[in-house]
Amino acid sequence: MIIRDETPEDTATVRQVVAAAFGRVAEADLVEALRDSGDAVMSLVAGDEGQIVGHILFSRLQAPERCLGLAPVAVAPSRQTQGIGSDLIREGLARAKRDDWQAVFVVGEPGYYGRFGFSTAAADKFETAYPKPYVLALDFVPGALRDRTGALLYAPAFLALE
Ligand SMILES: CC(C)(COP(=O)(O)OP(=O)(O)OC[C@H]1O[C@@H](n2cnc3c(N)ncnc32)[C@H](O)[C@@H]1OP(=O)(O)O)[C@@H](O)C(=O)NCCC(=O)NCCS
Repeated sequence: MIIRDETPEDTATVRQVVAAAFGRVAEADLVEALRDSGDAVMSLVAGDEGQIVGHILFSRLQAPERCLGLAPVAVAPSRQTQGIGSDLIREGLARAKRDDWQAVFVVGEPGYYGRFGFSTAAADKFETAYPKPYVLALDFVPGALRDRTGALLYAPAFLALE
């Protein structure tokens, strides 16, 4: 299995994988909207024997500055719980850190994202319409978020997602 940057040839397959993972097209539409708007910063695929079996996207937040939002992450239904989602998340986080992003936010299950270092505590001071128990952050520079507050604002394309 390899993790690599998505290429233009991958987009149709990525759409299929994302829609299959979520059981609806809303997140696949989100991926396309984020690409089109230029807010997608990193879009990675997991490939196995030439097949794309997973995808992850990181987008630039409107606020706080120099931070990314992780969403969506999707693994083909027949390939879930084999570590592919974890590999995509770990590789994406390593690249984000390398590229000097200060922190990554995610809205999701604390039990899952906690294993990668995300915590609700790191995100707690930021105002958001998302339910707080599911809003997590991971700062690469320890304390990078400690003295910051204000709104947590995802890219505009997220407004179309319920
Ligand atoms: C969530 C998802 C990306 C995880 O990828 P994966 O390759 O299946 O997961 P991994 O193999 O890396 O990790 C498996 C572990 O995560 C847990 N897990 C998977 N999805 C989970 C979820 N939605 N909530 C909580 N735990 C979850 C599994 O129970 C398993 O736990 P264990 O290691 O303690 O046994 C994948 O299951 C998926 O595509 N789901 C549908 C789309 C989705 O919900 N995306 C996330 C929201 S953006």
